Amino acid sequence: MPQLGSDQMPFRVAIVGSGPSGFYACDSLLKSEISCQITMLERLPVPYGLVRSGVAPDHPKLKQAIQIYARIAESIDFKLLANVTVGKDLSVEELLATHHAVIFAHGAETDRKLGIPGEDLAGSHTATEFVGWYNGHPDYRDRKFDLSFERAVIIGQGNVAADVARILAKSIDELKHTDIAEHALDTLAESKIREIVVVGRRGPAQVKFTPKELREFENLEVCQTIIDSDEMELNPESQTELEDKGNSGQRKIYEQLNKLSNMDKVEKPKSCRFTFLKGPKELLGQQRLEKVVFEKNQLEGDALRQSARGTGETVELETGILFRSIGYRGVPLTGLPFDEKSGVIPNIDGRIVENGNALPGLYVTGWIKRGPTGIIGTNRADSVATVQSLLEDVQLLDTGEEKSGADGVCNLLQSRNVRYVSFEEWKKIDQSEIDRGQPKSKPREKYTYVTEMLALLG
Ligand SMILES: Cc1cc2nc3c(=O)[nH]c(=O)nc-3n(C[C@H](O)[C@H](O)[C@H](O)COP(=O)(O)OP(=O)(O)OC[C@H]3O[C@@H](n4cnc5c(N)ncnc54)[C@H](O)[C@@H]3O)c2cc1C
Ligand SMILES: NC(=O)c1ccc[n+]([C@@H]2O[C@H](COP(=O)([O-])OP(=O)(O)OC[C@H]3O[C@@H](n4cnc5c(N)ncnc54)[C@H](OP(=O)(O)O)[C@@H]3O)[C@@H](O)[C@H]2O)c1
Repeated sequence: MPQLGSDQMPFRVAIVGSGPSGFYACDSLLKSEISCQITMLERLPVPYGLVRSGVAPDHPKLKQAIQIYARIAESIDFKLLANVTVGKDLSVEELLATHHAVIFAHGAETDRKLGIPGEDLAGSHTATEFVGWYNGHPDYRDRKFDLSFERAVIIGQGNVAADVARILAKSIDELKHTDIAEHALDTLAESKIREIVVVGRRGPAQVKFTPKELREFENLEVCQTIIDSDEMELNPESQTELEDKGNSGQRKIYEQLNKLSNMDKVEKPKSCRFTFLKGPKELLGQQRLEKVVFEKNQLEGDALRQSARGTGETVELETGILFRSIGYRGVPLTGLPFDEKSGVIPNIDGRIVENGNALPGLYVTGWIKRGPTGIIGTNRADSVATVQSLLEDVQLLDTGEEKSGADGVCNLLQSRNVRYVSFEEWKKIDQSEIDRGQPKSKPREKYTYVTEMLALLG
């Protein structure tokens, strides 16, 4: 009987999700010593997850990872079936019946909640929605953002908040030759926002920005960055934190904030203010958002473990538009365990576990494995580790049974009239987007409706 992983009986693995973690898992399997055949399932007709629909349009270099993924996809042992939602069009059981193992790499598609009164008032949005909207994600195509107010408030001080602030701060001339979606560019062209306030619940020594992202706020064409110098003062524990040898990255971030705080003030049409130690308490408004109430915070706890505690003193900011950028969150997938508290799939070294027991053949990687943090490259090591666990289990998974792999899945999908999109077909969409962008000197003009994408394919 041929061994699993031999040329006679290739190891058939389904990967759910075509973002960085899915592609790195695929790469790792294809480079392994055993013979593998991969079926990648993606719920949108277009691949690449947040590299396409998260990474900011004015950061084209960061999207170059796509070229690596496209090379992986050219392998004869790879098959993409896009426009297929696992948990809806196909069940976890069906994937296991057609493959020896399944790796879940479906990311974290929703957002954390603030849990304060008024959170869902009109005018209060998540960064997830705004980012998806300006990046042409079909789920957010028809969202409306009223940018007719003078002031926008952003809650959270991570790199997503920096992206949102920069997109609001830039001029249309700075954005019009990026791959930003056309509908978003049209709306931003009418924006009346002149002041952007980015609010953190902890201090300047605890922000989650990275120095490179902060440097971009040094010389925005039409926007002056403001950080009051008295806001840069540190409590003794924060000073200890920044002196800690293991915390040099955070020290660099603080130094970069300090640099922004000390920059000469130049009159520009817009301003972006970073402010600290303010926790959102309540959003107020009659029909829609009118005002945000913050409670001033102080830090408590030992160095490197400080949390924010309200002082009872409040400050208010009038605004009609607010973005909650406090982190993404995983969504449960039917047929898999889910840890509601942390928003991830419970696992040990990438093996999915339920009640402490590994579920045979089921693995997880990326944001849905470890939570919504880390840059594109972080997912590589994560996926290599998951694949390592999977490869250790190959003998256990060898029941001698042939699996039908992608062919079996295609049969199921055809019987259900699910119109799946192959990698070759995605290349057609890709080329058409590039062609549409050319007259506007844009790298591409994205299709933003699923129906448009499918119509192009006929
Ligand atoms: C706004 C934003 C900007 C970012 N910018 C940068 C940056 O500039 N540089 C950087 O290095 N990192 C950046 N990151 C981080 C980086 O994007 C993530 O680390 C990375 O995308 C996570 O990879 P993933 O594969 O786990 O998830 P994702 O990239 O989210 O991929 C998950 C994929 O699974 C699909 N999927 C979901 N559910 C299903 C289902 N049921 N069936 C089938 N498919 C499904 C989704 O459609 C998606 O394509 C950014 C993140 C965000 C949120
Ligand atoms: N250019 C890039 O490389 C790039 C761009 C975008 C995103 N990314 C990466 O993608 C990942 C996700 O980024 P992210 O910005 O979504 O998350 P993040 O880095 O985790 O930042 C979340 C921010 O929200 C704050 N927050 C959380 N809960 C809050 C609450 N209840 N009230 C007020 N504030 C709250 C956090 O403060 P506390 O610290 O106090 O919790 C933190 O400032 C990060 O790893 C990021 O680096 C990278």
